Amino acid sequence: MPSGAPAILVRDLRKRYGDHEAVRGLDFEVATGEIFGLLGPNGAGKTTTVEILEGYRVRDGGEVTVLGMDPGDRPRDLRERVGIVLQSCGMYRHVKVHEAVAYWAALYPGARDVDEVIEIVGLGEKRDALARTLSGGQARRLDLALALVGDPELIFLDEPTTGFDPAARRAAWATIRRLKELGKTVLLTTHYLDEAQALCDRVAIVKDGRIVVEGPPSTLGTAASRCQVAWTDADGIRQTREVEDPTPLLNELTTAALAGNEPLRDLTVTRPSLEDVYLELTEDVDAAPSEPAA
Ligand SMILES: Nc1ncnc2c1ncn2[C@@H]1O[C@H](COP(=O)(O)OP(=O)(O)OP(=O)(O)O)[C@@H](O)[C@H]1O
Ligand SMILES: [Mg+2]
Repeated sequence: MPSGAPAILVRDLRKRYGDHEAVRGLDFEVATGEIFGLLGPNGAGKTTTVEILEGYRVRDGGEVTVLGMDPGDRPRDLRERVGIVLQSCGMYRHVKVHEAVAYWAALYPGARDVDEVIEIVGLGEKRDALARTLSGGQARRLDLALALVGDPELIFLDEPTTGFDPAARRAAWATIRRLKELGKTVLLTTHYLDEAQALCDRVAIVKDGRIVVEGPPSTLGTAASRCQVAWTDADGIRQTREVEDPTPLLNELTTAALAGNEPLRDLTVTRPSLEDVYLELTEDVDAAPSEPAA
């Protein structure tokens, strides 16, 4: 693969299931070394997209290149260079944790140390436990271990931290950041917007099989541009204004407060969060509750 080529390239990707068009012309690129997040409501087409990139599902149209190869050809070389956490896994119910990880490691030419990976995902105490006895969050950690153990250069993580307790989630974030430091590329999906904010260099919000917005998480809020200024006035009434540029309003408020020798109480200036932007962009007008029939 020529240097500088994207790790993942998707052009006009399409996929239908019967009458339902799940993916309707997606375009995105993920640069080598980047953490890219696919966000979007249930059924938006994230898993379909990720599993096409992994070579698990067949696309109906468009161009897809992963590490310079077409996953539709199911090249062996690609399988050895890619690690995967599927949305629903649990393949290894009847073996022990370390056996599952060791089995998976054997499929990769440059696998990492099995026990080291088990420690990284926080399953050290469960090393000899049968996989089917793990709790939901622990089973998900095993899935993460399987994705990491091959030391792949590209890792697909489909809702990797669903079911994790808060400490385990933070630990997984640290692990994913470490992958980035090692120059790996990560494509993840998540419903946790704080996770996307904390980890992703760029995100794309998908709705009904199309990307509605794409960019670094911090700029999506500013792209929505509105800024909310709130304060409590002299009569004790809470006031809020939505403005593009808060500077003139702040000048007006502070000038009036200084002139009247009145404190400007409870002043806040807030930008929409990634969650605000997400909810605004994925709001389903059709899903709004209708007026009850008379
Ligand atoms: N194998 C399948 N057969 C038929 N329809 C499918 C199949 N897989 C997915 N779909 C449909 O395609 C759409 C997209 O599903 P997909 O699993 O890609 O969504 P998603 O964005 O990953 O959602 P979630 O956030 O719930 O995981 C959904 O409407 C789903 O019902
Ligand atoms: Mg999914």
